[in-house]
Parts: sequence; C-alpha cells; structure tokens
Amino acid sequence: MCGIVGYIGHRDAYPIIIKGLQRLEYRGYDSAGIVLFDGKGTKLAKTKGKVEDLIKRSKESISLEGKLGLGHTRWATHGVPNDVNSHPHYSNSGELCIIHNGIIENYESIKTALTKRGYTFKSDTDTEVLINLIEEVKKQEGVKLGKAVQIALNQVVGAYAIAVFDINKPDEIVVAKLGSPLAIGIGENEYFIASDASPFIEYTNNAVYLEDEEMAIIRLGKEIKLRKIKDDAIAYPNILELQLNLEEIEKGGYDHFMLKEIYEQPRAILDTYRGRLLADQGIIRMAGIDQNLERFTNANRIIIVACGTSWHAGLVAEYIFEDLARIPVEVEYASEFRYRNPVITEKDVLIAISQSGETADTLAAIKMAKEKGAFVFGVCNVVGSSIARETHAGAYTHAGPEIGVASTKAFTTQITVLTLIALKLGKANGALSESKFHEYLTQLEGVPAKVEKALESNAIIEEIAAVYKDSPNCLYLGRGYNFPVALEGALKLKEISYIHAEGYPAAEMKHGPIALIDEQMPVVVIATKRGHYEKVVSNIQEIKSRKGKIIAIVFEGDTVVKGIADHVIEVPETIESLSPLLTTIPLQLLSYHIALMRGCNVDQPRNLAKSVTVE
Ligand code: F6R
Repeated sequence: MCGIVGYIGHRDAYPIIIKGLQRLEYRGYDSAGIVLFDGKGTKLAKTKGKVEDLIKRSKESISLEGKLGLGHTRWATHGVPNDVNSHPHYSNSGELCIIHNGIIENYESIKTALTKRGYTFKSDTDTEVLINLIEEVKKQEGVKLGKAVQIALNQVVGAYAIAVFDINKPDEIVVAKLGSPLAIGIGENEYFIASDASPFIEYTNNAVYLEDEEMAIIRLGKEIKLRKIKDDAIAYPNILELQLNLEEIEKGGYDHFMLKEIYEQPRAILDTYRGRLLADQGIIRMAGIDQNLERFTNANRIIIVACGTSWHAGLVAEYIFEDLARIPVEVEYASEFRYRNPVITEKDVLIAISQSGETADTLAAIKMAKEKGAFVFGVCNVVGSSIARETHAGAYTHAGPEIGVASTKAFTTQITVLTLIALKLGKANGALSESKFHEYLTQLEGVPAKVEKALESNAIIEEIAAVYKDSPNCLYLGRGYNFPVALEGALKLKEISYIHAEGYPAAEMKHGPIALIDEQMPVVVIATKRGHYEKVVSNIQEIKSRKGKIIAIVFEGDTVVKGIADHVIEVPETIESLSPLLTTIPLQLLSYHIALMRGCNVDQPRNLAKSVTVE
C-alpha cells in the first residue's frame, strides 16, 4: 500500500528518491517523506499530501545533499495522514531511521513494553514502534544493525517491507520483507531499493526481489548478503534481468495514466495472446496449462479468487469456463474465502487473478488452498510478483505496467488470458467442437481491431458525460456475460468520480432497484444483440416507462434500442463470450470523462491505492 525507495551510492540521493516516489505514488499518496544522510548528519522532510508537496517542503527546509537516502509515500493504516505520522521515522536516540510498507499487528503490546523502558513516541504509527524495538534489541544484545533487525522482526507479527540505516554506518542499509514487495536494484557500486523496479529502471536492469522472510545487508563495495529472518540461513540472491522500459511507465502524451491505459488496450490484448493464440495452426500454446493439463481436465471444479476489478474478470471467466469447457466454477472474494473455512480438495484447481500480484487477501487465499492440496494457478500482470511466485503455475497478462489506480487494461487482458485457458480446456476435454474452437480463435484474433474501433466513440461519450456529470447516482445493468461488465462499470464510476453507482443483473432490477428509477436516474444498460437481447430491451422499456434516462451500449447497426434509449454508444459486433472485451471500453471512458469534469484526481482517487497489501 505504501511505496518505499532507497539509495546508497555515488550519486546524489535526492533526485533519485523523489523521482522514484513519483513513480510509486500509485501505491499510496496521503503523505510523503524523505531522509538524506551525508555521512555526518541526517536531514528529514515529511509532509501530509503528495510527493509534489514533499518537493516543496524539502526544498524549503533541508539541504538536499547526501549519497544515502530513504523515501516513502504513504497510504495510512495506523495514524491519520499528517506530517508526524509520515515516514521516515527515527528511533529515540536519533541514530536509526526506517521506512516501512505494511502493518505490525502486535505493535500495541511492543509499544507498552518499550514505554515501560522509557521510550517515547512522537507518532501514532506502528513503524515508529518497530524502529525503537530494533534500537532496544541493538542496545540490550550489543549486536550490529543487521542482527538487531533480525531479532526484532522475529518478535513482530504482521507484514513489512522495511529499509533501515544507522548513522554510525554510513555505507550500509538493511532491508527485510514479509508480505510486502521489495526489490533491490544493483548498479556499479550503488544500490537502489524500491517497492517495484520502476524507480531504478533508468540506472540498472539488474535486480533481486526479496522472498518473504528474507533480509539483506546492503553494503557499498560489497556483494549483497541475503539471509533468512527466522533461522539465519544464508540465501543466495537470484539476480534477474529486468524487461521493463522507461517509456512504459510514463504518460506518453496522454493527460492521465488511466486514459493512456484505456487506449493501450488494443495493444495490450494483442500482447496477451501473442505467441499463444496460433490461429493458423489451430492451437493455443500456454506452457502453464500444457504442463498441468491433467490437473485442469481432471478437476472437480475451478475456484476463482480475486478482489475488485480482478474479481469481476473472474465472474466473466465463470461464464466462459462453464460455457466453453463445461467445468463447474465458483468465484469468490478472496477476503471472504480465506476466512470461511471453505471445502477444498486435492481435486480442486484454484485460479487467483491479480493485476499487482501483491493483494494480501488473494495471497492468503492461495496459501490456504495450497495447504489443503489444491493446484493453484495465477493470472497476474506484474512479473515476479508475490502471487506469481506463490502459485504452482500461471500465465502473465503482459498488459505492461498499469499505473492509474483504477484498473482498465488489466481487466480486459485478464479476460483474454482466461478465455484462452477456457478454449484450451474446452478443446482438451472435448466440450468444444473443432469448428467452434476455430471460430473462437478467429474471433479473438479480431478483438484488438474492434477495441480500436470502440475507442472511436470517445467524443460521443464525452458529450454524454457532460449531461450526467452531476448525477448523484447511476445504475448499471447487464445480463449474462455482460452482468460482470455492469458491476465493473459501476465500480469505475464510484472509484474515480465518487458518484454512487450500482451494478445489477438486468432482470434483478424489478426485485428492488426499479424503485430508484425516476427522471433523475441515469441507467447504463449493456444491450448487445447476442445476449438475451429481447429481455434486456424489455428491461429498457420498463425503465423508460418510469422516466429513467437510458445510456445503452449496443452492437453497431442496432436500430431497436436506438429507438428507445436517450443515448446510444456503439461497439463492433462479436460473439457473446467476447463481448465484455468491447462493452467495457465505453464504460471506462464514461467514468474517466465524468471524473475529469467533476475535477477529481483520475489517476489517484481519494482513499485508494493501487496495490492492497494489507487485509
Ligand atoms: C479497481 C481496482 C481494484 C483492484 C483490486 C485487486 O479499479 O483497481 O478493485 O482490482 O484491488 O487488485 P489486484 O488485481 O492487483 O489484485
């Protein structure tokens, strides 16, 4: 949830840390802070607000020199977002300094014990408790910083990615991880630390991702030393060569990351099936499925776990898997699943869907399913993420970095991967005829061009947004494959424009929500010709006769709905199971324009964070 950045080397740390924090701001943005160490003394600047505010504060209040630095952008857990609760935090002696992403769950009892020993606390954070625990261990045990961090971490319960330094050791930073991500960039006599690789990508392509329960002592002029936090065993760093490039993490001429990512979808979907969907050979190649085909074809059922938008992609997948592969599917909120003692057997396959690959609830659901013997498959976007590593096998979506907090291309690429899997399984278990299989391959290949076409409605959508930007409520309706799309459309509007929105299966409307309809109520209806079209048209009539305002998403050439709805947005026609890849596009654009017109921060909506590494 928070973003952490650190640097030690021969360059000035300040610009590296600040730029790094700006790239990680998607992870949290209610306060920010930086500490710089020039070998003699430390300089600290922290503020409520964004990295922009931190730049102002630090330029006004501290000297910006120092070849060692730590920075933090926060999504508050313990303690309100204010200057004092912002990280970094010092220990009581002022000799140790820490940044932390995560939650220390037993901080209250540690705080009480430390208070009895005379420690005082400036902030309300669990992090300040942790740095003082490290200080106390260091004093009591007479050990060096690395050992003190290790002993202290064995006393805490919770999740963390931390970086700590001691002013008596100007050439060393100690880092540790459990549950929250931490990458170390390895340069020429310099090291970078960050929650993901984006802060250091222009300096080095070599990185080590710490595993859970690992820590590292990073010392200038020395190789990184990794060890296990629990038992002190040596771990060997697996140095990866990063594929990320700078262009991918910048806005590239768009006003917002969200808009850029909406427009990237034709390319992203193509990248998702590139090398996998081989229509001319009539095959789908996916190593993670090929190597585990029997686990899937012999499965009693598939359980899909995810959160938020990824859960909506899971709901679409339920329709696809049952329709094309005739395998029973259950879709679960990871946060509910992990706590309700579900029945899981060795014959179950669990598919975990996550853009970030770091969502704490999804990760916990995976661990539980593994313990009960299920085969666990991950669908993630972020390469090398915790979920990608924790699962038995998986398939990446290859959407490229998604930085806008509201998920867009992650959703459509997740559906693309899940469609490929369902097709592969349907063919393998005989549920899908050869001719149907080929028809799907051809149709899927045509989707990127159709998404491109759907994006051409942007100007019309902007006009519709202007009409409804001040509505306090909005209803989204869809049926079949487009019911999850209605949920996703409502979520997009809620999270970036703060308008209350509800998604419903269209036929359920008459069981309650119809009471909300009056002349003030915009209702977005997905009414594509193939899926229960006549029934949805009847639902539209029901809304119109109660004076509701209809914004309909239809296939090109539709005339029936055009005659009834107040506004119509066309998308190119495709087969029903692929229609979510097209009907989602106008809903993303609609929420984008409405949010923009309401003056909302589209890329960083209030109270949200891109990767939810706390439960
Ligand atoms: C909505 C959104 C969130 C995420 C959810 C899961 O736009 O971004 O609802 O979908 O937090 O995140 P991942 O997919 O990273 O597990």
